[in-house]
Amino acid sequence: MVATSLQAQSQPEVLMPVPKSIEWTNDPFRIPADFSVNIEGPDGLLNGSLGQYTQGFIQRLGSLTGYLKLPTLPTQQNAYAHLTISIELVSSVELGVDESYQLTVEGQGVQLSAATDIGAMRGLETLLQLVAYDAEGPYIRGVRIQDEPRFGWRGLLLDVSRHFMPVHVVKRTLDGMAAVKMNVLHWHLCDDHGWRVELKNSPELHEKASNGEYYTQDQIHEIVAYAAERGIRVMPEVDVPGHASAILTAYPELGSKDTTYALQIYAGIFDPTLDPTNEATYDRLQIVFEEMATLFPDGYFHIGGDENEGKHWEENEEIQAFMKEKGYADQHELQNYFNVRLQEILAPLGKKMMGWDEILDGDLPTSAMIQAWRGWIAEPENLPHARAARKGHQVVVSMGYYIDLLLPAESHYLADPMPVEGALTEEQAENILGGEACMWAELITPASIDSRLWPRTAAVAERLWSPVAVNDVASMYRRLEVMNRHLELLGLQHLSFADQYVRRTAVHAEDQATLRTLLGVCEPMKGYTRNTNGTLYTVNSPYNLFVDACTADASQALAFKQEVEAWIENGDPAAAEAIRSRCITWSNLKTDLEFFQRIPEGKALQTHLKGLVTLSQLAAQLTEPGAAENADLLEKAEAALEVYKTPQARTDLMLVPTVQKLLDHIKS
Ligand code: ACM
Repeated sequence: MVATSLQAQSQPEVLMPVPKSIEWTNDPFRIPADFSVNIEGPDGLLNGSLGQYTQGFIQRLGSLTGYLKLPTLPTQQNAYAHLTISIELVSSVELGVDESYQLTVEGQGVQLSAATDIGAMRGLETLLQLVAYDAEGPYIRGVRIQDEPRFGWRGLLLDVSRHFMPVHVVKRTLDGMAAVKMNVLHWHLCDDHGWRVELKNSPELHEKASNGEYYTQDQIHEIVAYAAERGIRVMPEVDVPGHASAILTAYPELGSKDTTYALQIYAGIFDPTLDPTNEATYDRLQIVFEEMATLFPDGYFHIGGDENEGKHWEENEEIQAFMKEKGYADQHELQNYFNVRLQEILAPLGKKMMGWDEILDGDLPTSAMIQAWRGWIAEPENLPHARAARKGHQVVVSMGYYIDLLLPAESHYLADPMPVEGALTEEQAENILGGEACMWAELITPASIDSRLWPRTAAVAERLWSPVAVNDVASMYRRLEVMNRHLELLGLQHLSFADQYVRRTAVHAEDQATLRTLLGVCEPMKGYTRNTNGTLYTVNSPYNLFVDACTADASQALAFKQEVEAWIENGDPAAAEAIRSRCITWSNLKTDLEFFQRIPEGKALQTHLKGLVTLSQLAAQLTEPGAAENADLLEKAEAALEVYKTPQARTDLMLVPTVQKLLDHIKS
């Protein structure tokens, strides 16, 4: 125990993502009430992005320390400032920018130096994470850090088609991204459920295919600028030729089937597909891409390309004749023809084309970039990221980073973007530029999105920034707790969303406490199982039920799992004691609360509560000496697990897998 606490003192678990190189010292900097910041470098920095970022830093430092006398503005000529930031140049926000920084905190002051303003922003985030408090007041931990990202592309895909996300939600998401050093917002701006961009030259799109929910051009400029001020690129996606219900709602004449089109309201893969044999399709995309290119200065442009099953192509005789004439053997070759045409539109606009890994299925020029997502279609060495990198395409990896699957942070954290060893040469591996967490929006709203994104996205951010050897899951979970506080300080609502559910659902303190207990042990059904066949919900359903308040890492179930795993591993009596103590608290809960009869999901929640009480009683007994010989106990546990593994209110009781593990261990 002594060793652990000493280690904890010398290596505080407060940084996320973990820097490349870090040396803790015993020379902290005491933060004075007149804390001052000077920025050295090219003229005009104070009015630029770094000046603004530093102001935000000072405000957050004020909140963290509780100091009210902090000056509100950094300076450019104060040789005696407490924090000196020095940079060499102001960089444009583009792929490959130098994001490295060096940070030294010592009793005399703090030095942050970086090649670029963006590197300095990354360093300011690290600095905030070093703030601590003791009896003498706030201080910054003594440290020498040299840091730079492992990957240059660290993105988040935000789907605003299935559910529209207003400007303020996008902005707070960008704040969270900057806090964990992410640098690409991949904006999924159209899909079957809506088109979300105001275009002056193609107004039918936002007028007919958005239900009135779209970003004006002013709002897009505002968000692109807000992102740039945080060193974040914004890459738009126009998903074609499939996922095209919205585009075809506006322009039905571009469809592959002579029919009427409407926005989709359910989840799934739909048939409406652009007609790649119709020149009018390219004329329209030319106009759309040209205008989008003026709205989005980034050098990359995503054309989607995923999940086109080609049904409407098969049904269309003219399209079939076109394929025959061109000698195309299948729909993939036709889609490749389409992709190449799109690349010919984008290249003169100065845009590099990117698409989902389906676009690899044709003979695509290697200048197109691939986003790998289908992790199930081949053996590991031939998965899309490996295949694309071998062919010479640049690759961004999203396999393993689908946040909407509601898997635990651990599963994302342990997914490395690099293909399995041996799949790529060193040179081919250079083609893996990074990764993106994907936040698909079928089952989220502006109110719930934070609780889906955070804190798990921070685990992906660390995977993409930190050295590959940084992979201690328990430490990651401890540091996510720390990040939760930083993210809340930015105004993110990932924790308060569940609180709102509790207050809305129950009035009395005991009922509220019961709901909080349940939220601590239940998780939304995983993968896409919550939404059976995609038809249990529409885009208009309420997403403020128990399942929405639950999160992917139910905190108390996770703590219980960690205790059980520790006990299984080392048989430590102290671990058994921890399990029993937790289980006794749970097994004493009252299950016959009257309020269960008065709320919509009361019966289901009561079943979960009974499961919690029953399974915790059994778990406590299973850790007692002699449990393995107690046939009656083993049989009861078996039967209870069978009963309580059934989801309730679209959530799983997360004691079930852990008690199962315990039982399997005892029986083995
Ligand atoms: C995708 O998830 N359809 C890219």
